[in-house]
Amino acid sequence: MIKIVSTDRIYNDIQVTLDARLKQIYQGTTHFEGDFCLQAEQKLCEMTGRKHAFLTHSGTSAIHLMLMAKGVKAGDKVGCTNFSCPATVMPIMALQAQPVFFDIDRHGQQSVQIDRPIDYLLVTGLYGDSFDYDKISNIDVPVLNDSAQSFGTLYKGVQNVKLGEASIISFSTNKNCPIFGTYGAILCDDDNLAQKIYLMRRNGYKNRDVGTSIQEIGINSQPQEDKAAQVLTSLERFSDWQIKRKNVFDHYDKCFNNEKIAIRPTTSYTTPNYHKYVIFVQDKYKFRDKLLAQDIECQLHYTYNFAKTEVFGDKQKNENFPWTDFYKRHAISIPAHPWLTKNEMDYVVDTIQKNVTEEDKNLCQKL
Ligand SMILES: Cc1ncc(COP(=O)(O)O)c(C=O)c1O
Repeated sequence: MIKIVSTDRIYNDIQVTLDARLKQIYQGTTHFEGDFCLQAEQKLCEMTGRKHAFLTHSGTSAIHLMLMAKGVKAGDKVGCTNFSCPATVMPIMALQAQPVFFDIDRHGQQSVQIDRPIDYLLVTGLYGDSFDYDKISNIDVPVLNDSAQSFGTLYKGVQNVKLGEASIISFSTNKNCPIFGTYGAILCDDDNLAQKIYLMRRNGYKNRDVGTSIQEIGINSQPQEDKAAQVLTSLERFSDWQIKRKNVFDHYDKCFNNEKIAIRPTTSYTTPNYHKYVIFVQDKYKFRDKLLAQDIECQLHYTYNFAKTEVFGDKQKNENFPWTDFYKRHAISIPAHPWLTKNEMDYVVDTIQKNVTEEDKNLCQKL
């Protein structure tokens, strides 16, 4: 089976370093916020150019903390994408704020109508690409960046994760800087915001010992050494993995363009991080099953129209979101991880070429 993510291959790649680090941690006494946390956070600052980095238990909890630290509260209107992983919207709902959904564009990137009244803007780049930041740079509300999928992506030469007052990264197994399970990080430059995030990720108080004052309302997202060691080890391998990802994407682009298969149009202003390779087919559920029967795992990224999803409220249920509908129906991601062999890539290309129909290819005209 050619998997979307091969955890055994990730492990092979990092085993020697990671095993030694985990042994050192489990034989030691520091399990929270020790040297590995510090090293991983410092490395994140170096790699992104951000002043502060904080590891968190997940990308989702990083968004949650980022919104809390910026003061998002019940009833606030938070502009966000209508099409993404549900994790983008959950923290808004958890804070009882109100999401204001914006459609994506033909590239799958969030678009924003800046005349719409909102109190905060949460922006999301999907598939390793970026939203068009210049279009929103004059907006007069705080811009917060769900860059879970955009680590390493450049927007007009600038790191996507540098955009916005704060940004987040996900290190989930299916991301481009994966660990086993999930972890996350928040990045920002402002010292006061950083101090809030620091306290909020440890339930609002400085010390686990009793007797210190509680300064903020927070959650438990205090980082652990063993997860931080995984993050650090993956960060050290990141640039190599990115080169391999680019090779896979270049190979697919060449083959699929030759065959006129409908692939996601990338934005002209982005140097992507090659996170998800997306093609379009008429019926993505059937296509997924067909490929699975031929030992290729695909994923349906994504299957929701948030505005029409009951738990997110019904305020925009009658609005049209044409590109959400298009992606929801047709977009499917294929295996594109850095450990694919040449034979596997050839098999993926060959199988896709054999299984797409003329009707699938005609989707090119709608893009
Ligand atoms: C756009 C987006 N935002 C947020 C998240 C949440 O990250 P995590 O899975 O680490 O909680 C993800 C990943 O699943 C994502 O793709």
